[in-house]
Amino acid sequence: MRLTDIAHDYLRAELKPGDRALDATAGNGHDSSFMAGIIGSSGHLIAIDLQEAAIRATRARIEAISSLPQAELLVADHSQALKSLCSQYAQTISAITFNLGYLPGSDKRIQTKPKSTLTALRAASELLKPDGLLLVTAYRGHDGGETEAHAVAEWMHTIEIRGWSVTSHEPVVTSGRIPPILWVARNT
Ligand SMILES: C[S@@+](CC[C@H](N)C(=O)[O-])C[C@H]1O[C@@H](n2cnc3c(N)ncnc32)[C@H](O)[C@@H]1O
Repeated sequence: MRLTDIAHDYLRAELKPGDRALDATAGNGHDSSFMAGIIGSSGHLIAIDLQEAAIRATRARIEAISSLPQAELLVADHSQALKSLCSQYAQTISAITFNLGYLPGSDKRIQTKPKSTLTALRAASELLKPDGLLLVTAYRGHDGGETEAHAVAEWMHTIEIRGWSVTSHEPVVTSGRIPPILWVARNT
């Protein structure tokens, strides 16, 4: 089973109509539109990406959904955007997703970086409602990917010490490639 499908299973189990959900790396909008389809017209979706093209693709995907939620689609660095959202939405978001790395088919230099990812993750932990779900997928095959995944693993360890439940999924690969990893964290 692909990590995306595992992540979507968690989202399907977590989210319900009317919830607020946040996609911190909107990309082509697959996770945003998946969450939008669940939270529906009474829900609130916030999707962020550094690249305007990604937000355009995400908007197109979301607009194809019949019961469109209220949507805030932001071209922004998630480390800054999530910090700003804390004043309005602290502890109100049911699920937050991060899909780290670069947008397939676009400029690979525009990729998530450990420092801003950790800043965004800290803000995400404040935005999540009690018992909310944080999903982080990291790809480790590209330049910088393994370093970023290592930084996220350490951060996950620190929230686990603070009482969060943290599990991870790694597909078994036989090709010698370093597999991606999905963390599933909950502020129990
Ligand atoms: C692997 S892609 C996300 C794929 C997406 N989940 C989807 O469904 O298509 C990673 C995305 O993170 C974005 N990104 C990189 N650094 C960012 C940052 N600091 N703030 C916000 N987005 C960022 C990239 O532009 C890229 O679109």
